[in-house]
Amino acid sequence: MSRLEIKPLSAVAGAEVIGLDGNVPIADADFARVHKAWLDSCVIVFRDQRLSPDAHESFSARFGPLKGHVLKQYLLPGRQFTLVLSNKKVNGEAVGLEDAGRYWHSDVSYEDVPPMASMLYGLEIPPTGGDTLFANQYAAYTNLPQALRDRIAGLKARHVFNYGKIQAEPGSARKPLTEEQQKQLAGAVHPVVRTHPESGRKALYVSPGFTVAIEGLAADESKSLLQELIGYATAPEVIYRHVWKPFDAVLWDNRCLMHHATTYDPTYTRHMHRTTIAGTRPF
Ligand code: SIN
Repeated sequence: MSRLEIKPLSAVAGAEVIGLDGNVPIADADFARVHKAWLDSCVIVFRDQRLSPDAHESFSARFGPLKGHVLKQYLLPGRQFTLVLSNKKVNGEAVGLEDAGRYWHSDVSYEDVPPMASMLYGLEIPPTGGDTLFANQYAAYTNLPQALRDRIAGLKARHVFNYGKIQAEPGSARKPLTEEQQKQLAGAVHPVVRTHPESGRKALYVSPGFTVAIEGLAADESKSLLQELIGYATAPEVIYRHVWKPFDAVLWDNRCLMHHATTYDPTYTRHMHRTTIAGTRPF
């Protein structure tokens, strides 16, 4: 009999899965419970995991095929699927992305087929700060007034990863992109409201990080509509704050959540590995 427990972490999102070791193959009955908890709460937390890069990748792959990342400069050396998010330096050179996700976004929404999920594994965590905020976009959509829901029905928005802007920020150590990478970052157009392919529920799908304009609207109108939507998308009542402990593995659903990394004292180390799980085209 399985000793797996699922404990809600907040009223709006998040559940902790207790009694599971990501190194050990998960029995189908246990996986069905974990998967349901993940679909229901959008983000699940596995505490105190000891995952080698192989184990992290195979644990993530239990949820679906893995997807690489356009920023190959920041993959763990020799690996195709593990992105390093870190402020560590070796011989003065950054080993990973130090400033990843310091804005609200849904991972890689600037591609036509963004990843369904991401699993972030915390190897070294600062004593305070460096939390990850998760905003439930089902709840954000539900909270919209009916007139606003009617107004955005059928609208599409353009998503772009403005790497150059991040690179130009003071103190940024971001490495240059190749021509091929620049081509890959041409952007994508997605519905403003997407339907989750598994739950069938509607979720807002715009972010301050990557959504640059609503298609077919004048610039001013697009800007003010986006601002209004972002207000609902990031309202305090839709947010779960994850305070990291070392060796947490956190799996989130990019189809119904945005997330945002918070800052921390850079004299401490924050060192994480992230995998992403392939998704389907938003509709
Ligand atoms: C990200 O995946 O966007 C980064 C999240 C984090 O570092 O907390």
